[in-house]
Amino acid sequence: MNTDLFIKEKEYFIHTYNRIPIDLAYGEGVHLIDRKGNRYLDFFSGLGVNALGYSHPLIVKAVSDQISKFGHLSNYFLTDIQVEFSEKLLKYSKMSKVFLSNSGTEAVEAAIKLIRKKFGPDKKIFSLSNAFHGRTYGALSLTANDNYRTPFLPLLPNIHQIAFNNIQDLTANIGINTAAVFVEFIQGEGGINMVSEEFVNELKNLRKKFDFILVSDCIQCGIGRTGKAFSHDYYDFEPDIILSAKAIGGGLPLGAMLVNNALSDEFAPGDHGTTFGGNPVSCAAGNVVLSEVFEHGLVHEVKMNGDYLIRQLLELKNMYPDHIKEVRGRGFMIGVDFYYECANIVTKLRDRKIFANCTNKTVLRLLPPLIMEKNDIDFFLYNLHESIKEADKK
Ligand SMILES: Cc1ncc(COP(=O)(O)O)c(C=O)c1O
Repeated sequence: MNTDLFIKEKEYFIHTYNRIPIDLAYGEGVHLIDRKGNRYLDFFSGLGVNALGYSHPLIVKAVSDQISKFGHLSNYFLTDIQVEFSEKLLKYSKMSKVFLSNSGTEAVEAAIKLIRKKFGPDKKIFSLSNAFHGRTYGALSLTANDNYRTPFLPLLPNIHQIAFNNIQDLTANIGINTAAVFVEFIQGEGGINMVSEEFVNELKNLRKKFDFILVSDCIQCGIGRTGKAFSHDYYDFEPDIILSAKAIGGGLPLGAMLVNNALSDEFAPGDHGTTFGGNPVSCAAGNVVLSEVFEHGLVHEVKMNGDYLIRQLLELKNMYPDHIKEVRGRGFMIGVDFYYECANIVTKLRDRKIFANCTNKTVLRLLPPLIMEKNDIDFFLYNLHESIKEADKK
């Protein structure tokens, strides 16, 4: 470890992150390499961002070609790369129009503004318990975790939570006064929780009746990560708004609010805007991601390799029923829920040169780059097995 670096962290930075004490030098494919030359297999991908891994040659080329033309133009100008990127994004999301932002949270904020503009301040907006939609004031009002919310109260009015997968709570809350419901069809930060078919069916019935807006927050579970284009594609259902970010920028900051035809003209010039949103370099990188995932079949490989990984994890669960409570997820968005806090497993994996993440205390969250192949999955499985064996001896 380069101790100097971590002393400077204390000296220079506001302490909002608990940094992992590893001094990374560069990334290559599905690996990150530290300054001592240790190679780490990445099952984390920068929190679900690096879909094509690190230093992907097509991204490197697209980014350097674009930046040699212009790195930024204000949104007073429309750029060819924004058009090319947006055309693909609209095609694979099956939506009508897009607003490009810098991040996921900003896409969430755009959606809240659009919903408020359409329905006014008095109608209610809902998210689900355990939801994570970001940390700015609007997004935080949708995020359910009290640890994130409490120091910053009061948040936006008329935003409430419905109990996850609880149809009774859903029907009790939704009515003529509902403006919108925000749903992560697979909750990420909340612990890789999948919305049930019955819950979605009830949501669809209620939408027909009360005509509210259904927002699919696919910021983490979109762009092929679950083995389909977007996680709601697993259900017979079309959202009114899709939010995307993370993977769509190929490692550069980019977010998107995608809307259906009925909402296409809700915003007028001046209603919303951003300096950097839809940055041409980010769009150039994102364009490569969309081509690889949707046009060159990566999404199908994610489904196949993800199914394999889930099957093997279920076998591990059968071998260690006292350790693993549940394996959940789709494609390359998987949670291994332990009976105990899994920080220890994450540390053991790191000692074995694998990066993974623990969320909601007990859930080992696996978000590998979408290009992860079977031999690397097997390496991970072997080391997870060994880590559990070690934990078993205690
Ligand atoms: C489902 C979901 N929504 C919103 C966000 C916020 O996105 P960002 O961190 O890009 O602002 C995240 C980030 O983890 C997320 O997972």
